[in-house]
Amino acid sequence: MSTRPVLLMIVPPGWGRFWQEPLAAGNVQAYVHGQDLYAPGDIEYALGFRPKPGFLKTLPNLKAVFSLGAGIDGFLTDPDYPRHVPLVRFVDDTLSTEMAQFVVMHVLIQHRSERMYAGAQREAKWRQAMLPRATENTRIGMLGIGEIGAMAAERLRDLGFPVSGWSRTRKTIPGIKSFAGAGERDAFLEQSDFLVCLLPLTPQTHHILNAQLFAGLPKGAYVINVARGGHLVEPDLIAALDSGHLSGATLDVFETEPLPETSPIWKHPKIVATPHVAAITSPAVAAKSVVDGIAALQRGEPLKNVVDLDRGY
Ligand code: NAP
Ligand code: GLV
Repeated sequence: MSTRPVLLMIVPPGWGRFWQEPLAAGNVQAYVHGQDLYAPGDIEYALGFRPKPGFLKTLPNLKAVFSLGAGIDGFLTDPDYPRHVPLVRFVDDTLSTEMAQFVVMHVLIQHRSERMYAGAQREAKWRQAMLPRATENTRIGMLGIGEIGAMAAERLRDLGFPVSGWSRTRKTIPGIKSFAGAGERDAFLEQSDFLVCLLPLTPQTHHILNAQLFAGLPKGAYVINVARGGHLVEPDLIAALDSGHLSGATLDVFETEPLPETSPIWKHPKIVATPHVAAITSPAVAAKSVVDGIAALQRGEPLKNVVDLDRGY
């Protein structure tokens, strides 16, 4: 009989093959839900992103659940999540680096009027313009300054932007101003020419990007949402763009994914929309962190990056 740890992958059709090999290399017996035959009682570990609500509770011998992503809202919206089972989120420098690249890229596309120059090239027009605002006067506000927000903030700071972050608890990051808690939120917003959302999706942050928040931003502010679609009230964003209060937005995540073809977001002239690709978890890297986590647990050591289920992230 095999003594290998047994893991179930709950992933979209076709994804299992990317994971099975690196997991097998780590001596983990990995089954793919919906593809392989397995006995629910044999499953000790699960790996997924947004499992169907109620499914995890059908696995009676789970020892840990690993998230394919940094965000774990897809587990916590399951009212039947087995709360005695630790949930481990994916925290990795490669993922944070890709996220930081995406944020920096979209700040620079707007800051350097890249879309205007792309349009001028299409028309063969030599159209020179000054920067809309000097870099040292272009203030970036990170809504959420955790693993990913802090890296993006540091990269932008290093490019000469004044950067601040808003979080639940106070941060000490060289060169970055910290705002903490509900009481400092308005002061944070009013000094954010770019607002980058990198909050986890929790009951406290659901629909936080709404008309009232947009009204607290300086006129002409630009919004980047790379966290979760559930943070944003999409009609409120469109209204703030159409009124001219906001100058534009980059959205990588949406309340409904895939974004329906009929959504006005696709064709809005002030919105850049990408299909949830700011960072894509690498199976090889994430499989290694799962293998390392299982090994730690088997040695009786504590797991890293365990989610605080009560806090919601
Ligand atoms: P994290 O390390 O948990 O950081 C979360 C930050 O949000 C922390 O600074 C935290 O404050 C703050 N926060 C949470 N609740 C708050 C509240 N109610 N009020 C104020 N601040 C609050 O998360 P992360 O690893 O940086 O990831 C952030 C999110 O990015 C993920 O949850 C996921 O949704 C998203 N993501 C998206 C993609 C993509 O491809 N688009 C890829 C990866 C991740 P404290 O530091 O004080 O706790
Ligand atoms: C992707 O959205 C993630 O949470 O890693």
